[in-house]
Amino acid sequence: MSSPKSSGINNEQNAQYLQAMGIQSWALRAQPLTNVVEEAVEGVVEDTVSLVTENAVSAEVAEVMVDAAEHGVTPATSDVDVTVDVSQLDWPALQSMVSSCTACALHESRTNTVFGVGDHQAQVMVIGEAPGADEDQQGEPFVGPAGQLLNNMLLAIGYKREQVYIANILKCRPPGNRDPQPEEVSQCESYLQRQIAMVKPKVILAVGRIAAHNLMKVETPIGKMRGKQYQYGDTPVVVTYHPAYLLRKPSEKAKSWDDLRLAMSIIHAADESKTNKDTS
Ligand code: URA
Repeated sequence: MSSPKSSGINNEQNAQYLQAMGIQSWALRAQPLTNVVEEAVEGVVEDTVSLVTENAVSAEVAEVMVDAAEHGVTPATSDVDVTVDVSQLDWPALQSMVSSCTACALHESRTNTVFGVGDHQAQVMVIGEAPGADEDQQGEPFVGPAGQLLNNMLLAIGYKREQVYIANILKCRPPGNRDPQPEEVSQCESYLQRQIAMVKPKVILAVGRIAAHNLMKVETPIGKMRGKQYQYGDTPVVVTYHPAYLLRKPSEKAKSWDDLRLAMSIIHAADESKTNKDTS
């Protein structure tokens, strides 16, 4: 376990944080749940027009896309003969595309897509598995009991929920909360990749086995992955236990606290190195 100093957290804060997390309960105080970040529909038409222009699609396709954008949706890619380059989309266009995605069978059983929520310039990006029943109903990630614990874990390292960005490997709920299937993960992957590329977090916190395995493309048991730094491209990744697992096994919270401190130490090291570069 790194010292509080090396993680940029002093002893007093450390004691406060440990107390705040309870280690036993993570019970800090009830946090009001934030609403889904409503991306302004305004501008979607404009974004779609420029997307269409950039991709040089036919006038017919452009008409379909503009019409859909005016009605607040982007047509499913299967409805039009066009390949959208997801890596070029901005936030409203990406969210619109996700909300009308029919790329895998999960769209048939979902109530809502669960795009992601939080600060588009967050230092920390949390990546979970997939929406559960509560998330499917509300269209926002981590709103159930596991989400409440996640909020408290984040507060313990000094971040309110709305100061981080939260997303999942999948944007739609797998029926009965079964594990995501490889086909579903691969159809959804470009959306998450684009979110990561736009947020540019200083660290990704992958919570749970499914997030860790699908992000890092490994099958190492999570107990062996946690406590280490991985890389997703240029972005450092820290793996920790899923809050739903911590609710079932509170004795593992102390390990998760170590993982959170590792994530913080990575952020502080990056900040220090930037300061050193700027002043040299
Ligand atoms: N579990 C997850 O992994 N993600 C959610 O959004 C909710 C529960």
